Amino acid sequence: MTRILLLHGPNLNRLGRRDPRHYGTITLPELEELVRSRGRELGFEVACFQSNHEGALVDRLQEETGRAAGCLLNPGALAHQSYVLHDAILDFGAPVVEVHLSRVAEREPWRRVSVVRPACAGHVEGMGPRGYLEALELLAGLLGRGN
Ligand code: DQA
Repeated sequence: MTRILLLHGPNLNRLGRRDPRHYGTITLPELEELVRSRGRELGFEVACFQSNHEGALVDRLQEETGRAAGCLLNPGALAHQSYVLHDAILDFGAPVVEVHLSRVAEREPWRRVSVVRPACAGHVEGMGPRGYLEALELLAGLLGRGN
């Protein structure tokens, strides 16, 4: 099985309780299981990790360099401010697809900008949990594993 990473940034451990208007009611474990399960069908082993700390996300990307073939990343609000994460994504050396549950382009002006996006191979937003499956298909395609 090809290993891929599913990384979640700050506050996403609160899914299910946090602002359901934007993020729905799915919990993080449920979301991870959704991706794991579709991932298995596509031949992926999905390693999941969430942290509220920017450095922990960078550490994990560095640890997985040369190990994971790609990554789905919901950076949370770090998307809008973290050049640190941008550089870590570049250094990861494998495709990263940025995912957001909500339609960030239609929210507050500061949310409309993603500073990590230029380092990513693609992005999906505003589709809720389904967006993760979309992002997974996108990643599979980039890895030459599309159906
Ligand atoms: C989010 C959007 C971000 O702006 C926000 O800070 C989050 C969640 C999303 O999935 O829609 O934490 O990444």
